[in-house]
Amino acid sequence: MTKKRLPLSKVYGLLEPGPVLLLTTAHRGSRNIMPMSWHSMLEFEPPLVACVVSARNYSHKLLRASRHCVLNIPTVELVKQVVACGNCSGAQIDKFSKFGLSVSPGVQVAAPLLDDCFASLECRVADTGLVRRYELFVLEVVAAWSDPKVKEPRTLHHRGYGKFMVAGESIKLPSKMR
Ligand SMILES: Cc1cc2nc3c(=O)[nH]c(=O)nc-3n(C[C@H](O)[C@H](O)[C@H](O)COP(=O)(O)O)c2cc1C
Repeated sequence: MTKKRLPLSKVYGLLEPGPVLLLTTAHRGSRNIMPMSWHSMLEFEPPLVACVVSARNYSHKLLRASRHCVLNIPTVELVKQVVACGNCSGAQIDKFSKFGLSVSPGVQVAAPLLDDCFASLECRVADTGLVRRYELFVLEVVAAWSDPKVKEPRTLHHRGYGKFMVAGESIKLPSKMR
């Protein structure tokens, strides 16, 4: 076997599914942005998404209080802002103005949509049963927006410690999935 034992601390870099998202939240006059890559689909329709939002993050507080958020999907052009948003806390600064990110209002939620992301998913918190144990929120997507001009989004996929894979070529094979 050519494989070598890997420290367990490096496992996440192999499994993180991506794409990296920018989670936006808002509550009573406060708003915030946080990059997030620990998420997973749970159901097709209505779409349910499981997300880990650490209780150390200001976003956790806003998400818990407001029970709404937006999952914005950035492409490689935004990578500097993505990393910058992950290296500071909205408890101290307004990341929207600091990083020049413009927004549009959500239609069904108070959290804003990031204009520079090609897709934005408005969500409500559907289940908090695993928040205390795993900081895991189950979100239901209640409205979805995507720029039809972006055909092959070059999304970011986190490989750990500031390293990203950028989505590239797509291939399509016959599928029986409905
Ligand atoms: C690429 C990337 C992915 C991240 N994924 C997550 C995640 O899935 N969950 C999480 O709680 N924090 C994640 N973080 C860390 C937060 O984004 C970071 O702690 C951020 O500063 C929190 O901001 P806030 O305190 O303003 O909410 C990630 C950071 C980066 C750069």
